[in-house]
Amino acid sequence: ETRRPVPSDIRARKGGTPLVVLTAYSTPIARLVDAHCDIVLVGDSVGMVVHGLESTLGVTMEMMILHGKAVARGLRRAMMVIDMPFGSYEESREQAFRNAARLMAETGASAVKLEGGAHMADTIEFLVQRGIPVMAHVGLTPQSVNTLGGYRVQGRGKDAARIMADARAVAEAGAFSVVLEKVTESLANEITRAIDIPTIGIGASAECDGQVLVVDDMLGLFADFHPKFVKRYAELGKAAEEAISAYARDVRSRAFPGPDHVFGEGRGK
Ligand code: KIV
Ligand code: NA
Repeated sequence: ETRRPVPSDIRARKGGTPLVVLTAYSTPIARLVDAHCDIVLVGDSVGMVVHGLESTLGVTMEMMILHGKAVARGLRRAMMVIDMPFGSYEESREQAFRNAARLMAETGASAVKLEGGAHMADTIEFLVQRGIPVMAHVGLTPQSVNTLGGYRVQGRGKDAARIMADARAVAEAGAFSVVLEKVTESLANEITRAIDIPTIGIGASAECDGQVLVVDDMLGLFADFHPKFVKRYAELGKAAEEAISAYARDVRSRAFPGPDHVFGEGRGK
């Protein structure tokens, strides 16, 4: 029986067995992923995956808290990290502290994640010094989709130096790990070798110190689009569609409910 990991345990896993990370937004999915993951991330991807938003920009503190509480109820072994939503931390380090503290206090998460490199280093240091472990997130940062001009691969050519500097800055600021999203494999490898905190890749490299995927993507539940970096481990969306169409057929033909699904006069029948 191993102790539930805390951020310093995750930090110490640099260069070891790769860290397994998945997102979750609900209690039943949290229960499923708990035994298999080191970290469960309540990602602001919830806005797109669960709420039908076009980007993560419309995700609120209230949404994160509601889903964070639901996920916490399903976890016993894995460490929980929760995303800070767009607009909740960029203005000042004080604003970031206030909202990070609220996310952790109300959900029981062990750490927060926030997007941004060098320009967020000051905020990361401020939070860490005040008791809030921070997972950083550099490369493609979806909350900046409007300034990045889309969800393109980051770090090609001269852009690599900027992202390397971002990764170094967040590590130096005290982040206990950093997500590298949709950067080139060679840059992900260089960053992983250059910094002393675990890198967690998504669309990055097998050499990262861990991997993360959006659980609905890898289960084939969220099929609106299929990024190259998502490996589909199941086609649950297709299975659900077949089940729903079979139910509709059965209702219309009066095949459901059958004898097993209705109640007679006798006890226990
Ligand atoms: O919101 C999210 O799901 C994320 C992961 C993809 C890293 O930030
Ligand atoms: Na996110």
